[in-house]
Amino acid sequence: MSRTETIWLDHAATSWPKPPSVLTAVTRWFEELGVDASRGATRRHQEVRRLVATCRSKISALCGVAAEHVVFCSGATDAINLHLRSTLAAGDTVWTTSLEHNAVARPLEALRRERDLRIVVLEPERAGAGIDPEGVRRRLEHEPPPRLVVFNHVSNVTGAITDLGPIAPTIRDAGGLILADCAQSAGRLPLATLDVDALAFPAHKGLQGPPGLGVLALRANALRDPIEPLRYGGTGSSSPTLAMPDELPLRLEAGTPNTPAIVGLLAGIEWVVERGIDAIHRHELAMTERLTAGLADAIASGIVQQFGGEDTGLLALAFRDLDPHEVAMALAHDEIYVRAGFHCTTQLHERLGASSGTVRFSPGPTTTESDIDTALRSLLGCL
Ligand SMILES: Cc1ncc(COP(=O)(O)O)c(C=O)c1O
Repeated sequence: MSRTETIWLDHAATSWPKPPSVLTAVTRWFEELGVDASRGATRRHQEVRRLVATCRSKISALCGVAAEHVVFCSGATDAINLHLRSTLAAGDTVWTTSLEHNAVARPLEALRRERDLRIVVLEPERAGAGIDPEGVRRRLEHEPPPRLVVFNHVSNVTGAITDLGPIAPTIRDAGGLILADCAQSAGRLPLATLDVDALAFPAHKGLQGPPGLGVLALRANALRDPIEPLRYGGTGSSSPTLAMPDELPLRLEAGTPNTPAIVGLLAGIEWVVERGIDAIHRHELAMTERLTAGLADAIASGIVQQFGGEDTGLLALAFRDLDPHEVAMALAHDEIYVRAGFHCTTQLHERLGASSGTVRFSPGPTTTESDIDTALRSLLGCL
């Protein structure tokens, strides 16, 4: 099936098709470069060093962090694991939310067992909505402050935005750090103004890059204590010593980096910035609004239940008489790609009362009104 016939409404899983400039950059690395930035001094290495440095500096501008505090990881999951494991010590308290993806919930549970963490789960005022910072502020007045607050900036199920900016200084004054899982917000919302200490996100979603690459971006407060590597190994530098280098980002980047993905991410970021992050956000929201408008009667009659889609262009639907997988397979038969299931967020589905899971629709920057209308026809045909 050619890509023009495919309607991809699964951008929350991964963006597709990638911009042509991303494909060109990755192909050029394989065809003409083939090396990484720190394991040689040839013309090719110099060229790759320049591309990798440019990628770091674009991320630094995107996130409001110093370029040397942009750490390449294998994905958002890897970045989150790195931050949690290097930050949390035995007996620490962590505040998190019921909106979290397993990329946060599972490492926290593993650390709870290993390090006897105390985990507090913050609830939104309405299931699936973002967390109200004022509720967190009230909690801070009565409870011992957490070592870390980790939250989902944009829910990967309802698209709800959480921004704890208004209380970030209070959390910090009490000695806490703040980590934002920006897997769904990178490329969709501004990150430089998000008041957190660390941001984790992958290359392959809103930033349009390849899979297998993620970023941990660290602001000054996150670096007030030494940050321990998750992995130890070669860095292409300081080879005679058995210790990891002290300087960032090398200290946290052991092993051969995913350079083709890094050059692809650079092209992806340039594409996103040229289109405008705010314009992308508004476009995706408009596409989702068109979808829900077309489903208005089915929603009003209770055949379809809508979760989210108000804050960003990402929403989940549950069906009174249909299994979500059945719906997704019917759409796939018409070459329309959505995602069915629990989206790695079982806790949130429990809160929503969606015990069989949901079908998630997540349009992207190149989704057209005609794509949405075709998807609507296919979906209404299932009901
Ligand atoms: C909210 C959220 N966090 C984390 C992740 C994990 O990203 P990755 O699989 O790229 O590590 C995802 C991916 O779906 C996500 O949606």
